[in-house]
Amino acid sequence: MTVLKILHVPDPRLKITAQPVEKVDASIARLMEDMLETMYVKQGVGLAATQVGVNQRVIVVDGSETDKPEPLKLANPELLWRSQESKDVSEGCLSVPEQYAEVNRFTRVKFRYLDEHNQTVEREAGGLLAHVIQHEIDHLNGILFLEHLSALKRQMLLRRALKVTKSMAR
Ligand code: NI
Repeated sequence: MTVLKILHVPDPRLKITAQPVEKVDASIARLMEDMLETMYVKQGVGLAATQVGVNQRVIVVDGSETDKPEPLKLANPELLWRSQESKDVSEGCLSVPEQYAEVNRFTRVKFRYLDEHNQTVEREAGGLLAHVIQHEIDHLNGILFLEHLSALKRQMLLRRALKVTKSMAR
């Protein structure tokens, strides 16, 4: 497995809409493995292929709220249903280092995807998993969580994230 390089704001590749996966073959399965490894190394709870510069609709998530890891690998994830209820949750993003803000997300969602064996799976989730799925699907559409904030707040977090990435590059 390989730890992949994560793109940071303001990289324009983060705004690209990713292409559907035709089939989860060995190369996509390998990408999923590498993304999961990268996500755990960086202590994230989700990662989209967009964030590693790959223009494919692939995400990995771990919405576990216990000590037990619950890795999920998803190609072509799509929301089938959203709850009426929504909630403000604190979010961060590996592409916007060390910045957090409250984002309004649906509390429960149903979603469909292709797993690492190219099988179609449908699931319903609440809690952290529901939030992470919404955040990662946004990435595949070129949308960062910053896009859900006021312009003022977005600019502030963007500025702070740039300071962090500059100090990381040094
Ligand atoms: Ni993110």
